[in-house]
Amino acid sequence: MKTNKIITLITGGNRGMGLALATKLATAGQTVIIGTRNLKSGQTAIAPLITAGLPIEAIQLDVTDPASVTQAAAFVTEKYGYLTTLINNAGAAFDFGMAPATVSQALLRKNFEVNYFGLIDVTQKFFPLLKQTARAKIINISSMMGSKTAALDPKTGVYQAVAAGYQSAKAAANMYTVQLAKQCQREQLAITVNAVDPGMVATEFGGATPKQAQALGAQTVDTGIARTFALATDFDNTETATFSNVDGPVAW
Ligand SMILES: NC(=O)c1ccc[n+]([C@@H]2O[C@H](COP(=O)([O-])OP(=O)(O)OC[C@H]3O[C@@H](n4cnc5c(N)ncnc54)[C@H](OP(=O)(O)O)[C@@H]3O)[C@@H](O)[C@H]2O)c1
Repeated sequence: MKTNKIITLITGGNRGMGLALATKLATAGQTVIIGTRNLKSGQTAIAPLITAGLPIEAIQLDVTDPASVTQAAAFVTEKYGYLTTLINNAGAAFDFGMAPATVSQALLRKNFEVNYFGLIDVTQKFFPLLKQTARAKIINISSMMGSKTAALDPKTGVYQAVAAGYQSAKAAANMYTVQLAKQCQREQLAITVNAVDPGMVATEFGGATPKQAQALGAQTVDTGIARTFALATDFDNTETATFSNVDGPVAW
């Protein structure tokens, strides 16, 4: 067992919440690897952090490209031999506002490629590395958009939102979270698997600018990453199969 350094991989770490989390976790002393589908973009994003002496590096990782995921896992295997925390943060929405009756198969599949199949491919390929630590974590960045309870509750912001492909993919990833967590429990693996809802956050997600998102009521990136940061730094917390935000558990 090699447990000396906390090694954390964050997919989609070149911007938005992924980059903010990477910065905060590296500042807290974790060795952070950001997965970035465009290596140059990731390297540019973390250049000031490296200059500041933070333990962070970028690797090419497109979650929808199996060869890229395989290569990234091989790199981490070779360099570290284990992984403490996997944060499946990469995500994208392609069908905001589109009518469920007519949204194209192509767009539905695109949503699933990134938010569901991509997340699972990364998880499966890094799973052997997570098994090499005394206590490991998988944190899946989900969304209330994937909550059927919220979608049916007129009191929530999600009630008015329509993005059937994105929402279904996040809901499916939530179920994957539950099933993988239960497998880890059955097999007595010291790996927790949890989903986090960051809330509506002022990033470039969905094509808006952070300013536009803020005008629509989005919260700051700092607030958006707070729950994930808390989970990623609390190694006494053995809760698994949870879905939560900064205020506590949320409805699946
Ligand atoms: N912002 C919100 O209001 C909100 C609310 C709920 C949940 N979320 C979730 O939070 C997570 C982070 O979102 P964000 O707000 O930080 O969004 P963002 O600023 O748009 O960042 C998304 C990140 O995902 C990466 N990505 C997209 N497709 C990828 C792929 N195929 N392979 C690897 N990386 C890929 C992007 O890389 P590129 O730069 O290469 O595009 C980018 O780094 C997502 O999972 C999102 O669904 C966001």
